Amino acid sequence: MALTITPMRRRHLSSVMTIETVVYPRPWSQRLFEDELERPARAYVVARDGEQVVGYGGVLMIADDGHIATVAVDPKRAREGIGRALLRELVRQAIEMGAKQLTLEVRVSNSAAAALYREFGFVPAGARKAYYADNGEDAIVMWAHDICDESYSARLSEIDEKVGPIERVGFAGESDQTERHVVRPFSHPSRQSPHPAAATRETS
Ligand SMILES: CC(C)(COP(=O)(O)OP(=O)(O)OC[C@H]1O[C@@H](n2cnc3c(N)ncnc32)[C@H](O)[C@@H]1OP(=O)(O)O)[C@@H](O)C(=O)NCCC(=O)NCCS
Repeated sequence: MALTITPMRRRHLSSVMTIETVVYPRPWSQRLFEDELERPARAYVVARDGEQVVGYGGVLMIADDGHIATVAVDPKRAREGIGRALLRELVRQAIEMGAKQLTLEVRVSNSAAAALYREFGFVPAGARKAYYADNGEDAIVMWAHDICDESYSARLSEIDEKVGPIERVGFAGESDQTERHVVRPFSHPSRQSPHPAAATRETS
């Protein structure tokens, strides 16, 4: 598989939405993605196989916490290592934006994603009761700490070996993707919400 990872652009959004609407019970709207692409302190990326978008993900910064906002892979391409490659890129982007630790929420039932996150050193740190509005499911909050330490670099090196060669295109010199910003808490969309305003309500 010749995978290319690039910054997400508007031109990718119709393909992103095709995956989004299949994999998430409460998909984000295209408008939400468009807004996210305009906001600072974020990095959204897509994985492509040739011209085909096969997955995407995003990370946003709040102080020196990198929040994994979303990761999704075309179900037809599941279990090919695309999710791992995407998360690896999001970790790279978060570190470049100044992240000292990473966090995310995952559905209690989402054992596939949880297994992927554990590989990246995420450990459960608590639960948010009835976090997901579609079915009232709890979220597990996971954190990966000390991501600038040598031991985490060693973990990333092992992951890089599994990921193998990936073409990364369009990242160098893109200050909008790598510049460090500090944003106010609760200004970000959460995975369970179809709209940032609703996310603010549901997560605060
Ligand atoms: C979670 C998701 C991104 C994983 O993507 P993927 O490309 O299929 O995952 P990978 O092939 O990179 O798998 C990497 C590791 O994750 C774990 N994993 C992935 N899918 C798994 C599954 N169905 N069951 C158990 N473990 C799984 C495994 O440890 C796997 O390593 P291995 O294949 O060497 O055993 C994908 O299933 C997805 O898009 N799910 C729907 C959206 C979603 O839930 N996103 C997360 C929101 S919190």
